[in-house]
Amino acid sequence: MSTLSNKRIIVGITGGIAAYKSAEIVRRLQDRGSKVQVVMTPSAEEFIRPLTLQALSGYPVHADLLDPEAEAGMGHIELARWADLLLIAPATADFIASMVHGRGNSLLSAIYLATSGMVAVAPAMNQGMWSHPATSDNMQTLRQRQVMIFGPDNGIQACGDIGEGRMQQPDVIAEQVANCFETGQLSGKKVVITAGPTREAIDPVRYISNHSSGKMGYAMATAAIEAGAQVTIISGPVALAAPDRCTVIRVISAAEMHSSAMAACADADIFIAAAAVADYRPASVAEQKIKKHTDSIELKLEKTPDIVSTVANNVKDIFVVGFAAETQDIETYARDKLQRKKLNAIIANDVSRIDVGFNSDNNEAWWITSNTSQVFSKRSKTQLARDIIDILSKQIDS
Ligand code: PMT
Repeated sequence: MSTLSNKRIIVGITGGIAAYKSAEIVRRLQDRGSKVQVVMTPSAEEFIRPLTLQALSGYPVHADLLDPEAEAGMGHIELARWADLLLIAPATADFIASMVHGRGNSLLSAIYLATSGMVAVAPAMNQGMWSHPATSDNMQTLRQRQVMIFGPDNGIQACGDIGEGRMQQPDVIAEQVANCFETGQLSGKKVVITAGPTREAIDPVRYISNHSSGKMGYAMATAAIEAGAQVTIISGPVALAAPDRCTVIRVISAAEMHSSAMAACADADIFIAAAAVADYRPASVAEQKIKKHTDSIELKLEKTPDIVSTVANNVKDIFVVGFAAETQDIETYARDKLQRKKLNAIIANDVSRIDVGFNSDNNEAWWITSNTSQVFSKRSKTQLARDIIDILSKQIDS
């Protein structure tokens, strides 16, 4: 069974009789490990009560685009950014038409317009409505926009007609959602990823470190796994659960991360250095806790080994991607690191902002190679990682 571990899915419910099956869809998606939030159109509430979906999803159900209280909490833009995938099930003929026309007149349609995540629809309607040329044209438009279409099934309908237009069964829809995350772009490749901070001991109780949470590196690992790669994460101390289906090597210091990375990269195809490795460490570590007898102390610091540069300069036939954590002149400094460390590509991000970079769930980044630069506007780290893996795999294939 394909997993949806750590995935964030919005189930959008529109007003059709198949809406009763949406509760079961929420359950099947959760069974595979995803978090699910529900957004309903006003007419969907005529078919299934929001309370049922709130109880099942564990989140308040979102319905009103103009509710000031809801917008002050998780508004339509936040919800759009939160979702890795927006699944509209059931999707009525009317809602599909509103997607085609880009109408933002309901919370669900506004989320559809605002999301950079994947979008899927599970149409459900009368067979005559499904086979109408207007619906066929609309489906064609959605396909061209990379919206995934699940079903519909053929069979007996609520109105008594027999034909195509029944929404697919919840377990079939959940399986297809899980398959959306499996791209196979890196199948057969070995990928090593560093993530999180390192800690450089001063004495047995104190250390030098930084604000890295590991979220970006772990998102890169998840996206690489979805792309079919065999992934090893070399992780500094973080409070994150490891993704399924990968090897995790836990380290504390830059020296440990360095030796683990060198060993793991020996037969790897791709190295992605997302860790915020401490650049300096105390030249010597006090054996006992340093006493506070004086008003100040001096620490002599020495440089840590540059892991990404060592891999790029010493390991043969490996594609090396660094990250650049910058606070000013982002592209210029990142390009300098790309050249100095002899990397194939670098992902630059702004770590002076609180809404992206360190510890945030979102990030904004520049993908930079010797002759290209591409900006990825603010989005979830999960989505950004997927976009980066996409561009990286195309680069490797070219
Ligand atoms: O972990 P999060 O909270 O999600 O935050 C994500 C992040 C901001 C940490 C991440 O997106 C990021 O920018 N990681 C790189 C942080 C960093 O150390 O950047 P840098 O510009 O100082 O280093 C450039 C590159 O050299 C990086 O790939 C770094 O991993 C590598 N490096 C640095 C020092 C060193 N001794 N060895 C290295 O390999």
